[in-house]
Amino acid sequence: MSELCIDVNNLNKYFGKNHVVKDFSLQVAKGEIYGFLGPNGSGKTTSIRMMCGLITPDSGEGRCLGMDIFTQRERIKRRIGYMTQHFSMWGNLTIRENLMFMARLHGLEARKQCVEQTLDEMGLASRQHQQANMLSGGWKQRMALAACMLHKPSLLFLDEPTAGVDPKARREFWQTLHHLSAEGMSILVSTHYMDEAERCHKLAYLSYGNLLASGTISSIIKAQNLTTIQIRGRFLTAIENRLQKIPGVEQTVIFGNSLYATSGEREKLKEIIAQIVSAEYEVSEVDTNLEDAFTWLMKNNGD
Ligand SMILES: Nc1ncnc2c1ncn2[C@@H]1O[C@H](COP(=O)(O)OP(=O)(O)OP(=O)(O)O)[C@@H](O)[C@H]1O
Ligand SMILES: [Mg+2]
Repeated sequence: MSELCIDVNNLNKYFGKNHVVKDFSLQVAKGEIYGFLGPNGSGKTTSIRMMCGLITPDSGEGRCLGMDIFTQRERIKRRIGYMTQHFSMWGNLTIRENLMFMARLHGLEARKQCVEQTLDEMGLASRQHQQANMLSGGWKQRMALAACMLHKPSLLFLDEPTAGVDPKARREFWQTLHHLSAEGMSILVSTHYMDEAERCHKLAYLSYGNLLASGTISSIIKAQNLTTIQIRGRFLTAIENRLQKIPGVEQTVIFGNSLYATSGEREKLKEIIAQIVSAEYEVSEVDTNLEDAFTWLMKNNGD
């Protein structure tokens, strides 16, 4: 088995009486980009903070980069990079000043050299004298990523690093993540974007503190054992309204001129659609995609 950089088992966390992470287990191999998904409040940030040694789980056991997440928290913090969910750099400092400040916080030697190298590697050199407040969302996130890599960690925890960032900047950010991964960096990254989920090597999906699925995209989709049927034509909303009233059609969604209906019961779904949809519509079975699988997981594991 390949080397694991995260290996945690049965982690639990309560905030007061609120059991926010339940028996959470995760194994991440070195060099892997592991996506972390789930609705708001499902426990992603809390799980990240437990795995990187920022908060102590109430029970369970685990290692991060081979170090114990209960007893070696300070050592873990020195070896990982953590990009917080909310922008936490200084707005009135320039990119360079922010990085110098972070390098000082980490107690790094040869700070100037280290900052200059990071500015170059992250493509930030040309903007190093710009004030953080004046940067676009994409450049802010790039700076925040640079800041958490100054001390040369081998594992990154990125908590929704591209929230609110435009598609081009997100694409560039993900290109950087793949370059880092190719060089051996391990990355755990939370996101609400499906296109980003699809760029990960593996995924974990949390809902109400429960890990509902984990593994490769294809294994997660396959495990739900769903059938999706595409219906093409006009006036799809009327068909959708009718389908939604029938038990057995678990979910529907319209994308442009196509309506997709997904269900766990293949034959029943086909039968219902044959009854409701007239011959002028084009009907075909298509692959269930990740969004369909996650929507189904969320719907069937509600509170
Ligand atoms: N420090 C805290 N004290 C009390 N409750 C907390 C604390 N941090 C998180 N929670 C609660 O724990 C639950 C999980 O929160 P968490 O921030 O881990 O979710 P999340 O999946 O990261 O959500 P989001 O997608 O909105 O970032 C929520 O109900 C939240 O209100
Ligand atoms: Mg969060």
